Amino acid sequence: MNKILIIYGTRYGTTTEVAQDMSNTARELGAQVDVIHLEKGIPFPEPEEYDLVIIGSGIQAGQWTKRPLKYIEQKLESLSKTKVALFVVSGYAGNPDKVAEAQADYLDAMPEKYPGLSPISTALIGGMFEFKKYNLVVRALVKSMAKRNTPPGEELPEKIDFRDWDMIRDWIKELVQ
Ligand SMILES: Cc1cc2nc3c(=O)[nH]c(=O)nc-3n(C[C@H](O)[C@H](O)[C@H](O)COP(=O)(O)O)c2cc1C
Repeated sequence: MNKILIIYGTRYGTTTEVAQDMSNTARELGAQVDVIHLEKGIPFPEPEEYDLVIIGSGIQAGQWTKRPLKYIEQKLESLSKTKVALFVVSGYAGNPDKVAEAQADYLDAMPEKYPGLSPISTALIGGMFEFKKYNLVVRALVKSMAKRNTPPGEELPEKIDFRDWDMIRDWIKELVQ
């Protein structure tokens, strides 16, 4: 894979760090990589210009961010003729009881929602909870959920990071090679 596009959406920045790390790994293997954070106003690149298009998103309340979905919707025809891989960065990926549900809902469901989309690979990547980044309401909500998974009497850390960098690097290496 020579020319790779990594295109993603994020709410709190975890997915940006994941996408940057993926691009570093792919570049070390000799690939030419464009990394695009799909914010409002950023033009959609053409999938045909790449050997591989990797599309990803952080998950909140069971949902991808809006712009990568819009990209898939608008470019579906050309994406169906291009090699595509999908990833999500998700809190459920760090919870063994929720992994299967997250894989099914956030990744395996995508070809059903977007007929023609046929990913060669998908990755369910553990996300991060960083309480200081949230507004008061979100912080209280997420802390109360996290406390349910914390042994009684144990302090909740400021940050819970489920990202597995070896897994992320192995996934991208396999794709590039
Ligand atoms: C308000 C809120 C809701 C969330 N809902 C979910 C969810 O439904 N499923 C899930 O797997 N992770 C959920 N998460 C965890 C996020 O997926 C995780 O924090 C991820 O790292 C976010 O990526 P981002 O920083 O790129 O937006 C939620 C996080 C927050 C703050």
